[in-house]
Amino acid sequence: MTSPIAHFNGAFVPLDEIRISPLDRGFIFGDGVYEVVPVYNGEPLHGREHFERLQRSCDEIRLKNPHTVDEWMALTRKLLESHPGNQSVYVHVTRGVPSKRDHVIPTGLKPTVFMMCYPLASPSKEQIENGVACTTAEDFRWTKCHIKSISLLGNVLARQSSVDAGAVETIMFRNGFLTEASASNAFVVKGGTVLAAPQDNMILLGITYQLLEKLAKDGTLKLEVRPVSEAEVRGADEIWLSSSTKEVLAVTSLDGKPVGTGKPGPVFKRMHALYQEYKGRLGRKDAVAA
Ligand SMILES: Cc1ncc(COP(=O)(O)O)c(C=O)c1O
Repeated sequence: MTSPIAHFNGAFVPLDEIRISPLDRGFIFGDGVYEVVPVYNGEPLHGREHFERLQRSCDEIRLKNPHTVDEWMALTRKLLESHPGNQSVYVHVTRGVPSKRDHVIPTGLKPTVFMMCYPLASPSKEQIENGVACTTAEDFRWTKCHIKSISLLGNVLARQSSVDAGAVETIMFRNGFLTEASASNAFVVKGGTVLAAPQDNMILLGITYQLLEKLAKDGTLKLEVRPVSEAEVRGADEIWLSSSTKEVLAVTSLDGKPVGTGKPGPVFKRMHALYQEYKGRLGRKDAVAA
């Protein structure tokens, strides 16, 4: 099988021909940031918003972004020429390759840029109709979770605890309050109101989270952004996950216990329909207004 085309430091080359130095600070320190842009039928969903978040991540780690949002969009479109259909575009920027291993941030280093595509793993019909199981864990990550850092060990270990229990995500609490899941944001519905965790440094502010906020507003669903206690999560009528890949997905079992009725709830169904309708407008001019 031929290797798919990827992007590496300005060149479009087969993925398996790319070679990265062991001194790359991404390899040595996890010193870099990334993005994942969902693509439907060749059309990136909120590509600009993803690259604006990449800029914020770069700023937070004092890394000079090698490209503007327009340049990133152009690279994405070029990469998509050889990847039709529904894709995830993975974008990775590290601080580059110094001559020696040293924690101190070197000046004048050229960042390493890597992009690849893989088929978008959207939720199955079964997952949408029946919801998914999640487990919970204490959020033991650092306190800069708003940065989309490539240092994902905390998220990896959190995710693995749900894999071990046969569940699809791990919902996390810090000091008794909901933060997010290992690779998704989490929402709770109580008495018809959607509750979402504060948009601070304890979560990655998802592009999908922001879209759900907008869809709730336009679709006249009540959504409150405020600290959500663990007790509220455990006593919720509905729990949802959101991410660029999962879109919006109902959680119907938490730590082995049913959430609400144990079936995707009415507020989820409404939000899922709003999301699908929004996606359906993608590519049309009115779909891009954020
Ligand atoms: C920790 C974490 N939170 C939230 C999200 C959701 O972000 P987005 O909606 O931009 O995909 C992700 C996505 O990968 C994530 O890794």
